Amino acid sequence: MGDPRPPDRRPPDPRPPDRLPARPHLLVTGGAGFIGSAYVRDVLARDDGIRITVLDKLTYAGNEANLGAIAADPHQAARFRFVRGDIADAAVVGPLVADADAVVNFAAESHVDRSILDPEAFLVTGVIGVHVLLEAIRAEASRAAAGERAASPRYLQVSTDEVYGSVEAGHSKEGDRLDPRSPYSAAKAAGELLVQSYHVTHGTDTVVTRGSNTYGPFHHPEKLIPLFVTNALDDLPLPLYGDGMQHRDWLYVSDHAGAIDHVLHHGLPGETYNVPGDAELPNREVVTRLLEHLGKPWSLVRRVEDRPGHDRRYAMDGSKLAALGWRNRIAFDEGLASTVEWFRANEAWWRAIKSGDWTAYYERQYGARLAGSTEAG
Ligand code: NAD
Ligand code: DAU
Repeated sequence: MGDPRPPDRRPPDPRPPDRLPARPHLLVTGGAGFIGSAYVRDVLARDDGIRITVLDKLTYAGNEANLGAIAADPHQAARFRFVRGDIADAAVVGPLVADADAVVNFAAESHVDRSILDPEAFLVTGVIGVHVLLEAIRAEASRAAAGERAASPRYLQVSTDEVYGSVEAGHSKEGDRLDPRSPYSAAKAAGELLVQSYHVTHGTDTVVTRGSNTYGPFHHPEKLIPLFVTNALDDLPLPLYGDGMQHRDWLYVSDHAGAIDHVLHHGLPGETYNVPGDAELPNREVVTRLLEHLGKPWSLVRRVEDRPGHDRRYAMDGSKLAALGWRNRIAFDEGLASTVEWFRANEAWWRAIKSGDWTAYYERQYGARLAGSTEAG
């Protein structure tokens, strides 16, 4: 007998099923930093019942002001909690993971130049910190197996395209060899490999994202775009490393945060997903465009001694993430224009960061470089 129902002509939903329970409680580590805070703001703004606890050590890069909009909105504040602490501290991490449906780990030391000056914190957070989080998840998996909780928490590790090393040509795919070349990217690769080992050995439900160079509001002014925008606003020199022909692929922060959330909900256990941007550009071109937005002259740009081991190019293939149903929304020129405007409008935010310890860091990183600089041509 034939099926009496009319045929279903709807296109198949390209999106795999949601792997989190309804209205999950997320533990977001490193959620007071640049990308983590964008993730927390965007998820809570959806107002769909998700609760978030942020665990953040508040290093020099962490800033509770990045989450200020949440405290100001009672609907969001009711679903939000902030805990100051270290992901490498098992006593802090254990109870928080016990109360979570998923852990999204943004916590890391994130600046390549600082990893060249002082690498130790990169390893403690990037390797031991990840180990502590994974052990806490393993303990919860045992509780789930014993029927003491519904399911083990899912774990998402936020990683980076830098684990592939410098890519002379073509686009890195997820199965390519890892070839980290800075203490920062070596620590990130080590963290990822640990995550993969827990999936294989213990069956932990893990996913990994590898994001490209991210930019946008609340970006710490140690990084290229915010450093050059804020220096240019003050007519200070812009220290361009070497010939400035290194290529990066730029990704707007809300797209990076959205892609991470998409993988958290839909990624397959044990899988890794590249998160590329839409704009592979040499640094010189990025600087040219941001100076145009600011109405400032190229003469501010100084050619300075290069970063040691400087990766020449990053570029990733995004087809695996696209097949999972994710599309970026913000094109580079649109994102850069709104980023420049945000920095113009939020001077108090970045001037507070560019004070205190900043002065000593700036002198250490740029003092001799700027003294020996030449015209960038
Ligand atoms: P960020 O430096 O702005 O923020 C890092 C946050 O982690 C800060 O709030 C800091 O206080 C916190 N933190 C550091 N160590 C901690 C610890 N031991 N315990 C708890 N909290 C700790 O970094 P970001 O640019 O927002 O990057 C977030 C993540 O994304 C990092 O893992 C980074 O490797 C990765 N990533 C960044 C980019 C980028 O372009 N910024 C691109 C790809 C991947
Ligand atoms: O690719 C993803 C990575 O992007 C992330 O994993 C890192 O956390 C994030 O910091 C970023 O790393 P980069 O080293 O690419 O970003 P940064 O902003 O430090 O530098 C971007 C490019 O600009 C790089 O080629 C170095 C150059 N640069 C940077 C600074 C700070 C300069 O020429 N002068 C500078 O003063």
